Formats: sequence, structure tokens, C-alpha cells
Amino acid sequence: MSFDQREQSHNLVMEGSVILLGMRIILDEIRTSSDGSDCKSLSKGFVSAMLVLQEHYRLVVGEDDEGIADHGLVENLVRQSGVAIQFNQYLNREDIAYTIHPGHSVSFSHRQAAEEVSSTLPGTLTLHFHNYRDIAAWIVSHPQPYRQLEAALADGAQKIRDGALVAFPTETVYGLGADATNPIAVEQIFAAKKRPLYDPLIVHVGDQKQMDSLVTEITERAEQLMKRFWPGPLTIVLPKSPLVPSIVTAGTPTVAVRMPSNPIALALIRLSGKPIAAPSANLFGYTSPTTAMHVHQQLGDACAAIIDGGACTVGIESTVISFLGETPKILRPGGIDQQAIESCIGPVRSDVEEVADASMVSPGLMPSHYATTTPLWIVDDLHEYASRSDVGVLLFGESGEVFHGPVEYLSKKADPAEAANRLYQAMRRLDGKSLSLLVVRLLPETGIGIAVNNRLRKAAVNTSSKKN
Ligand code: TXA
Ligand code: MG
Repeated sequence: MSFDQREQSHNLVMEGSVILLGMRIILDEIRTSSDGSDCKSLSKGFVSAMLVLQEHYRLVVGEDDEGIADHGLVENLVRQSGVAIQFNQYLNREDIAYTIHPGHSVSFSHRQAAEEVSSTLPGTLTLHFHNYRDIAAWIVSHPQPYRQLEAALADGAQKIRDGALVAFPTETVYGLGADATNPIAVEQIFAAKKRPLYDPLIVHVGDQKQMDSLVTEITERAEQLMKRFWPGPLTIVLPKSPLVPSIVTAGTPTVAVRMPSNPIALALIRLSGKPIAAPSANLFGYTSPTTAMHVHQQLGDACAAIIDGGACTVGIESTVISFLGETPKILRPGGIDQQAIESCIGPVRSDVEEVADASMVSPGLMPSHYATTTPLWIVDDLHEYASRSDVGVLLFGESGEVFHGPVEYLSKKADPAEAANRLYQAMRRLDGKSLSLLVVRLLPETGIGIAVNNRLRKAAVNTSSKKN
């Protein structure tokens, strides 16, 4: 038996025994509960099963914790136990119902939504995570999810009004927010991120009135896009009003605005009563954050508060489109693809190719963006790196290859949207492994794959494949 075969069979045995163990705990809980329909025991059983799974995994595999989700252990567990598990009366609470979905998300509903939950959050809130371990951690640290989130939002809104920095989740990436009308507050964003003052910020709005206050005119096509894609991952560049301080727009006469769809982001903006300027909450040039922990690791000290709303669903930044010229122009590909935009307003131009060419002409002159500390190479053939245990691989789709270094799947089923969602998380995970090199192949250049490739090209240190 080769080393790989031994390891594989060992893993199979481990998976089987861990699943059986988890299932036994749940079944025991159900059996001993007074009423089979009482889900309190089931929820307890599930949480303890998760903890046992985690501990078992740690003992067998080592400290590489997030592997639980990677190995599909908990997915199997959830699937076998009836797809979704109701977390009624979790921790003796009768007002919250939890549902854990196999796709790494948890919904919780407030039973007395009408009376108890203010208009800030919807009665059912679904949070997404990169893996089940993160779901378990969030639930354990938020025994009163609505009350805690609402308290965090009220506190965050007050801090925004006071001129402090608050990090918050959006559907794209986490933002580092400040009151966009307060230049002193905005200056702190640049300082915290070490971001040059020539790079303008996106302003986030919670309603149409705020939008109207930030710009001097809204062209017809911009209006159409807003109707179609807001709230959502689309940023619109228009002439700015005097309300917007010049530090926000890096001295340019235009402002970039978007209305995020993440309910926590919307609640924060609406509660604060301020438009919120927010770049991605990472150090300038580094990989963007898709969890509160990512923000904490790089900017924990700079933030007056970090609101933890799980993982971002889109996973890469918004599409930025400018309405300054005759024909609208996409300045940055992102969550909404060009085809969707064109189906709404007709032909648009795109800067993407020009940007790729510019970095071809003068590689190194362009500041790198979205980059890992470990060098990332875009390659045509991953096979060349398969025998290197010091090389991490970002993989799109299944591969028959056995890689000796660590592998992070962007999407096993080769789904570009899933790849976007996992991209930064995967880059960060490999970056934490002290490897010599990370390698990746570009995705097919369609839909959101274009935006993923744009980020990979900017993050990569080599330029050999930049034209692919
Ligand atoms: O999804 C997103 O857009 C995230 C979340 C937090 O909303 N934000 C984000 O911000 O990606 P940031 O700062 O990392 O990227 C903002 C991009 C930059 O490429 C910047 O140059 C461009 O938007 N931008 C901002 N204002 C602009 C303006 N007035 N004209 C042209 N480009 C602008
Ligand atoms: Mg950024």
C-alpha cells in the first residue's frame, strides 16, 4: 500500500466512525427525550455531536480545524438526519427557532417578530458561513441572536455617528465603515488600512433619499440599474454633491455609491442615519475579508466595533460602473456581470482588458491588490506543481491529480459563483500555511468567472497568464 492509499483508507475509516458516533449521540438524545417532536434535545444532540466531531477530528488529523467541512462529515450528518434540523427552544429559549441548512447557513426566526423585533432586522434572518465549525462557533457565542445583533447594531450606529470606525458585513465582503459626511472619520479609514489618499471610497446608502443627497444628477440608465440591482453588489459612479467631502472621492468630482443587500449592513446604515463610506476591511493591497475573524486579524485594533454577521454570500466586491461618459463603463468587474447589466441598459464599455494590459506593460508598477503574502502564480498546467509539498493549490473543479501540497477547492462542482464565494477564504487559508508558492488556473472567462479572474490576476505576482 502506498502512503497515499494508506492515508485514504485511514480517512475513510475515520469518516465512517465519526459519522456513526455523531448519529448515535443524536439518536440517543431523541430516544431519551419525553416527546419525539421536542427538538430541544435534538438541538443539544447536534451541538454536542458537532463538538465531538471536532474533537475527534482534531485528535486524528491535528489542529487543522476547518477540515470538518472539507471532509463533508457534518454535511453527511445533516443530510442523514433529515436535511434540516429545527433548533426549537435551543438553550431553553422559546422565542427563537433555528434551522441549519446543508449549504453552510443557519436561519433563525423570531416567534414574536411583530412585537419584539424592531424594524431593524427581518423576522427570519439567514446567516451564511464558510463551514459548520463557524456556524457552531457563532451559535455558541450568540445565545440570544436577535438581542445581541440588535445591540451590536445600535452600538455600531452610535459609533458611526460619533465618528468612529465600524466594520460590518455586506453581501460582497466586510466593509470598514465611517460616516461619509465626516472627513475626520473618513481620514481614519485611510490611516487604518494604510491606503493611499488617491484611492477613492464607495459610499453605502440605505435608501433613495440618501442616494439623492450624494449626487447632483442620476442619468436614466443609472436609474434603471438601480431599480434592477439595488439593493445589491453594484456600485454606480455619478457627479458628487457638495455633501460628499473630497477625501471620500480622492479629490475627484464624482462619487461611487451602492446600496448593499445584506440586512445587517442596511440596518446599520439606516440606524445611523448616515451614508457610510466603506472600503473592504483589509490592509491596503491584501486579500479582502469575508468573515468578521478576517477583519479582526488585520484591523481589530483600528475598529471601534466589528459586527459579526457570518460569511459574505457573494464573496467578491461589487461591480463598479461609471456614468460619466456617453457610454457607461465598467471600471471593476464584480458581483453583477456585464451581460446582466447589458440586458438591462444595453451596451456598456469595460475597462477590464485595458487594466490587464496596463499590468502587462509595466508589471510591478501597478500596485498589487487582493494579494496573499505568499506569492501567487497563475499557471496553465497545475501538474508541474503536483509533487511539491511546499506549493498550495487553489483548485476549480475536480482533478484526478494527487497534489503533495495543500489543496483548497474554490468549487468542486466548478461553479463560478461558489468559487467567488470561497476565493478569499481559500487564499487566506493557504496563506496561513507558510508555503513557498500558491498556484491557480484561471476560471472560464464568463459571468462572475470574469470577476474572479480579475482578482486572481491582480493578486498574482507573475504576468505570464495575464492575457488568458
Ligand atoms: O463590494 C464592495 O464594493 C466593497 C464593499 C465593502 O461594499 N467595497 C469595496 O471598496 O470593494 P474598495 O475601497 O475596496 O474598492 C472601491 C473601488 C476602488 O477600485 C475605487 O478606485 C473605486 O471603487 N472607486 C471609488 N470611488 C470612485 C470614483 N469616484 N470613481 C471611480 N472609481 C471609484
Ligand atoms: Mg478593497
